[in-house]
Amino acid sequence: MPPRPLIIDCDPGVDDAIALLLALASPADFDLLGITTVAGNVPLPLTQTNARRICHLAQRTDVPVYAGCPRPMLRSLTTAEDIHGPSGLQGADLPEPTMPLQTQHAVACLIEQLTTAATPITLATLGPLTNLAVALIQCPEIARGIGQVVIMGGSLGAGNITPAAEFNIYVDPHAARVVVEAGLPLTMIGLNVTHQVVTTPDRLTALENLGNPVGRAAAGMLRHYGQIDCDHHGLAAPPLHDPCVIAYLLRPDLFCGRSMRLDVETEGSLCLGRTVANPYPTPTAPANATVIETADAEGVYGLLIERLGKL
Ligand code: BDR
Ligand code: CA
Repeated sequence: MPPRPLIIDCDPGVDDAIALLLALASPADFDLLGITTVAGNVPLPLTQTNARRICHLAQRTDVPVYAGCPRPMLRSLTTAEDIHGPSGLQGADLPEPTMPLQTQHAVACLIEQLTTAATPITLATLGPLTNLAVALIQCPEIARGIGQVVIMGGSLGAGNITPAAEFNIYVDPHAARVVVEAGLPLTMIGLNVTHQVVTTPDRLTALENLGNPVGRAAAGMLRHYGQIDCDHHGLAAPPLHDPCVIAYLLRPDLFCGRSMRLDVETEGSLCLGRTVANPYPTPTAPANATVIETADAEGVYGLLIERLGKL
């Protein structure tokens, strides 16, 4: 099988960084056409810089990085420095990147790539969905160039930024609604899944023991992020969110899900940004997404450690 064409849209962010490393370590599986960045965990100047920092760390400066939307469609930006640190990559001391930022806007990149693709492109989205929503509004024809969209976002149960909503969807619920209602081949990996894939002391040690700069940086970031996430949310062990999307693309057999009707709440105040998934679709509200329900945590973490060992 030739490598699958892939664009990763993200807001690094510690777990975005780990997801990027997993993809960058998998050149036989992915033809990584670009990394598009958006405001989310930290403001856009930091997310685009952090994406380039991670490309340097992985020695993959061949992958172009684009800056996209600096704020959500309607709402003002909510960030998460309290979890990811002021730089977005707390726990790793990574130098300023020397590889250039692309001059093309991320939305223009998505439109160009998706309207000229010879083979449908897979989109992995790891942050607020602003870039993809704006691209869909500007140029609905991009849908034809999308093979699959796998999003980290939403939840079948509790949220994390509010009791009802997960961070990526809450930050830009209107963008999420545009994406969910676009009729795309969509897979949702929400908190109900990512909370099954936790970072344990043994897994952190295995990353450290890789003995390469990537393993040390990944362990440093995950140690810091995990501690803060646990303190903040009262968790016993910290979830690994965004890497689940890349792991799903590499090893779908590690995940189980069902076809459901997915909607996003954009009106309420208490439930703003909540994903509502109905496993019993109806003719008037038909299924529009595969919603993942379970993950093989040992398999996902094993894959991550094996691949990061190659960098
Ligand atoms: C999501 O929110 C962000 O803070 C993480 O990077 C992840 O994409 C989890 O809710
Ligand atoms: Ca993210």
